[in-house]
Amino acid sequence: MKGPIGIFDSGYGGLTVLSAIRKELPQYDYLYLGDNARTPYGTRSFETVYQYTLEAVRYLFGQGCSLVILACNTASAKALRSIQQCDLPSLAPDKRVLGVIRPTTEMIGDQTTSRQVGILGTTGTVLSDSYPVEIHKFFPDVQVFQQACPMWVPLVENNELGNHGTEYFVRKSVDNLLQQSAHIDTVLLACTHYPLLLNTIKKLMPAHISIVTQGEIVAKSLADYLQRHPEMADRCSQNGNVTFQTTDDEDKFDRASKIFLGYQTNSTKVGL
Ligand code: DGL
Repeated sequence: MKGPIGIFDSGYGGLTVLSAIRKELPQYDYLYLGDNARTPYGTRSFETVYQYTLEAVRYLFGQGCSLVILACNTASAKALRSIQQCDLPSLAPDKRVLGVIRPTTEMIGDQTTSRQVGILGTTGTVLSDSYPVEIHKFFPDVQVFQQACPMWVPLVENNELGNHGTEYFVRKSVDNLLQQSAHIDTVLLACTHYPLLLNTIKKLMPAHISIVTQGEIVAKSLADYLQRHPEMADRCSQNGNVTFQTTDDEDKFDRASKIFLGYQTNSTKVGL
């Protein structure tokens, strides 16, 4: 039985990844699930993020998805490994769950000349240390500096983009990161919500620093994965459709998602 590719995020952030994936792989069907009722994940404990993410993965498997992408750094950092290693073998050995951290860490070392990289993410992602650990596996010579930006997701989720209050909080986190080293030349937006703040971040970041967003990287990595795993590609339906589901109010989701996607969605409310 073929089914859509599941794309999961705690809220709206994964829509930035979905957009890039659909651009790269428009032929597939996608089921986007936003756990808006329980967002944000970035400030929650490992155990809670793991529980919530596992519930979402189980739900998406139940909807016929054989492949689920955690389009959320926090969920990828705190839950992916446990789900892959402990849950999948008994839950659904023939299904797969992939995250956004590995594809990004595989390429980030090719972007930096100074060999100093900055990571901006949620508190959960930063505290997990997933980025420094994973980057060092591929690029042992790269120094990684991290800064948590706990205010950024709520600002994005509330559509507070491009105003003075937002600028204040963006500047504060950018400054805190850059104060850690004067030689950072590459900064990764390691949260799928942050591309919505890109204009403000660019304005406040010195021009010589390149800012890396994840959507395209994850999309290319998924295309590569499907090519290397034709048996999985065969299990993903290809009618070019996308369905949106949220654990909170659907009208609110449809209004907010327009900011991320540029078009109106017609989502359904679901319980996990
Ligand atoms: N978009 C999620 C990420 O990439 C985090 C948002 C949240 O805190 O729930 O980390």
